[in-house]
Amino acid sequence: MPAAAPEASAIATVDTSRWSSKRRDFLRMLGYGAGAAALGPTLMACGSSNSATRADDLRAQLVTDEAFWTAVQGLFILDPSKTFMNIGTAGSMPKLTLDVFDEKNRAKARDSGNGYSNLRNLRDQVAPSFGVGGDELAFSANTSSGMCHAILGLDWQPGDVIVTTNHEHGGGDTPLAIAQDRYGIEVSRIAMPVGNNQTAATYQNLFDERVRALKNAGKRVRAMMWSSPTYKTGTLLPIAELMEVVKAHELISIVDGAHLPGMMNYDYGALGMDFMSGAGHKWQCGPGSTGILIIRNKIRASNPLPLPKWYPVHTSSYSTQPRTTTGTETFDIAASVTSCGSVHTPMFEALVSACLKWDEIGREKIQTYDLTLANYLKERIAERWGLNALYSPKDDPKLCCALTSFNPFRNSPNDIMDSAKSSQFVARMLSDYPQHFVIRNANFEVIGAPAQHYGVRVSTHLWHDANDVDALVDAMWDLSGRM
Ligand SMILES: Cc1ncc(COP(=O)(O)O)c(C=O)c1O
Repeated sequence: MPAAAPEASAIATVDTSRWSSKRRDFLRMLGYGAGAAALGPTLMACGSSNSATRADDLRAQLVTDEAFWTAVQGLFILDPSKTFMNIGTAGSMPKLTLDVFDEKNRAKARDSGNGYSNLRNLRDQVAPSFGVGGDELAFSANTSSGMCHAILGLDWQPGDVIVTTNHEHGGGDTPLAIAQDRYGIEVSRIAMPVGNNQTAATYQNLFDERVRALKNAGKRVRAMMWSSPTYKTGTLLPIAELMEVVKAHELISIVDGAHLPGMMNYDYGALGMDFMSGAGHKWQCGPGSTGILIIRNKIRASNPLPLPKWYPVHTSSYSTQPRTTTGTETFDIAASVTSCGSVHTPMFEALVSACLKWDEIGREKIQTYDLTLANYLKERIAERWGLNALYSPKDDPKLCCALTSFNPFRNSPNDIMDSAKSSQFVARMLSDYPQHFVIRNANFEVIGAPAQHYGVRVSTHLWHDANDVDALVDAMWDLSGRM
């Protein structure tokens, strides 16, 4: 459900004092505003010349809308002495969200207010942007909390099998481990491919084959759980394709979508999974301790399977109504996750302000920009280090997101299995370069490798531009040559 994209001038209260000199120079050159439209096509045409690489084309696309994104950057209070490229771990609240948080906190303190509410009015304000009704969008504490709600609320029977991958985050793996010990379920893990040599069909086949093999062995497969994307390699497991497997085998579907809200403009009603647990505090840039949990609560064409039996495990709101068998809900299931005693309402009011700002900027526009930045970064990495250095897929758009993971060690690629050296690379990207890049690494299994790889991961979001990516790539190339 893409929102209309506003003009750059519609981005309210831009604080230019925090812009880097690079941005101010760029805008001076551009004659900020009026010149942007004229310059864009020129740069685009340059990038599309015969000798231009795919990276050049992507760069030209990014620069075309530079004035707009510079205005967006002015919404944040990020420390300009650093380049924050670890949104996958933590976002940053825009100024307006900080203001809402502060005002609502003070109002609550002035009035000795409580938080006994299921926040339905707030949920109704953001649910349409995620393609669901307010009864299907819950506010959780974060992704991990949403995964606990989803997994530990299902009516598992001993011997039930969940099919998942070996690249899951602890936020999903921990409730899985509890369900194993407490309810006697079994977990079957698919070994994840890495790199560019994979497509959406790869995952559809891997899951389908695994479910079939388990069934043939007499196992009772009940659910599939996967990350879209994985935090390790930034591989966006394709929800639509995996939902085909889910429906063919009549399974429960649980998506760890930590990175989806604020990055991807997804319509969850159309995708039809039973649960999608996302963060409010990462790409959506809401306060810490906020998350968005989508719970399927009505039958749609996208998923005609019956709603699974599920009990709230952490709540002050429990409905004994039967779940619907039609397109109309019988009760507000998301209330049971959102309402548990007195909650800190300013936190969620602040989250809503960030969501509404994303709607105003345009969720589709943000998705396109984030992905173009990431694709540009991947192309530049492939040009310098070679395609095989990438752990993230590059060429199937269904697998691409705004997380980029790769092996920077060009002199001795096997050093990527050295945890300390990989961590040193991350630390030196922060300390050794004037832009002070904030990135991270993550360890994961690679099929056929003798040890785990500690890939370096970069997040690209709406406060970055092509120059940031260029500077990052130059610094990483320089550092990799010296390590
Ligand atoms: C795939 C994935 N799942 C879960 C989490 C946990 O997120 P949260 O801190 O919102 O619980 C993360 C955090 O990075 C993640 O990347």
